[in-house]
Amino acid sequence: MTSKTKVWDLPTRIFHWALAASFAGAYLLSESERLRNVHVALGYTALGLLAFRLVWGFIGPRYARFSSFVHSPVAAFRYLRDELRGRAPHYLGHNPAGSWAVFGLLILGAATGVTGYLNFNELGGESMEDLHEAFANAWLVLVGLHILGVVFSSVMQRENLARSMITGLKRGAAEGAEPRNARGLGLAMVAAILGFWGWTATSGGVAPGAGPGQGEPAELATERETDDD
Ligand code: HEM
Ligand code: HEM
Repeated sequence: MTSKTKVWDLPTRIFHWALAASFAGAYLLSESERLRNVHVALGYTALGLLAFRLVWGFIGPRYARFSSFVHSPVAAFRYLRDELRGRAPHYLGHNPAGSWAVFGLLILGAATGVTGYLNFNELGGESMEDLHEAFANAWLVLVGLHILGVVFSSVMQRENLARSMITGLKRGAAEGAEPRNARGLGLAMVAAILGFWGWTATSGGVAPGAGPGQGEPAELATERETDDD
């Protein structure tokens, strides 16, 4: 019997899957002029989640803290090389290669969200549109690499890492106190996401620069498509 340790606290797991869903939804709906409000609401959800993760990276439990997964590029390459040879050590938190992907995913997510916001509020002109799309596509590429990395590490380490992002548990003995589950915070996150969604659905959406209730989806939907393609 191998022991299992709680590694990913509930807020980190909710953050992860809600971010993955917001990203996927925002990306898939990004071309639709009619569903622009849904795209923007998903984008704001992603931005809110990233803001939460920034704070959690400093005050959260051990394995969620940024300081627990800062590794040099050399360590990341060494890890990848050892993993290819099937002799990489097992990490309870993020491994050195994965941790670089995590920082990249967080930074590209923030850059995509901020440029989307500027673009939506007509700041920065056409170059902002291009920048937003470029960041979103770079993020997509890194997400692809991230998922490949997760599958590869899962095979080499004989541990289903995607499942551990659901249950929070990883193989191995605890190296210290396990993170508190922070159930209250997890529930508050779910409530905040659902509340925001309820608000956007009932108030007519998120208009540029809008405060609560100022959105008018009809206005956006009637904006003329200016793209030639
Ligand atoms: C089927 C899709 C996905 C699977 C199976 C998956 C799986 C995982 C796993 C297993 C980890 C922990 C890695 C480790 O053990 O070190 C992780 C971390 C992470 N993933 Fe994913 N992921 C998926 C999609 C995404 C997407 C779409 C995004 C971003 C848009 C994303 C962003 C992240 C981030 C930011 C972390 C770091 C978590 C944290 O420390 O807060 N993932 N993912
Ligand atoms: C999860 C985060 C996001 C992703 C993955 C994403 C992705 C994309 C992509 C790929 C496009 C280009 C679509 C095309 O081919 O025309 C796009 C366009 C756009 N996005 Fe986002 N976006 C995100 C967040 C946001 C946010 C937060 C906002 C606004 C607050 C926003 C506003 C817009 C607008 C207004 C356009 C249309 C640009 C145009 O006029 O062509 N996006 N987005």
